[in-house]
Amino acid sequence: MAKRIAVLASGSGTNLQALIDAQKNGEILGGEIVLVLSNKENAYALTRAEQNGIGTAVIPSAGDREAFTKKVVDYLVQQKIDLVVLAGFMIILGQQFTKTFRGRILNVHPALIPSFCGDGFYGLKVHEKALEYGVKLTGATVHFVNEVTDGGEIILQKAVAVREDDTPETLQRRVMEEAEWKILPQAVSLFCQDRLVIEGRKVKILDK
Ligand code: GAR
Repeated sequence: MAKRIAVLASGSGTNLQALIDAQKNGEILGGEIVLVLSNKENAYALTRAEQNGIGTAVIPSAGDREAFTKKVVDYLVQQKIDLVVLAGFMIILGQQFTKTFRGRILNVHPALIPSFCGDGFYGLKVHEKALEYGVKLTGATVHFVNEVTDGGEIILQKAVAVREDDTPETLQRRVMEEAEWKILPQAVSLFCQDRLVIEGRKVKILDK
């Protein structure tokens, strides 16, 4: 049976769009996006979901983190979700989330982990830091989520060259286009085909 995928997003949802496009093109084998959940009621990701006939839910993140985590986890369990994809979800959920869905949560991060990651590294800030540091290569990472921010096992990475005239905005856009929008749907499809095996820190990708 197809795995039930929930995508959690806080913002514009271009990674969600890449997943929706991949699904339409038959590139997500063994899974179906059934829910987009946001902590922001005005997130454009919700509009993208509605335009594509995908169910939506909003759980506001104001207040206590553990209480918010419990509401999100209870909803995902109630919806019988098999895989949770964090696609620009800007809240770090508590341990109840990682415990309940261990090995079933994927995140996309806009850098080559372990560079420019962890608490405080999100969105445009990641690219500002990469430019400040002067790296020549950056990129994106899709990884499993554990209790350490951006610390879970790495599934796929793709490098992107930094240009001398890059601004955080131009670099962010290129990292999305050249890396995030490609490796996120690939990783989701691999997961849904049961082709990802965690062995210690490493993720083995099984042949078809
Ligand atoms: C993406 O670049 C994603 O990798 C990043 O936020 C952006 C969301 O864009 N996520 C993080 O920084 C998480 N640490 P989107 O809403 O258009 O997909």
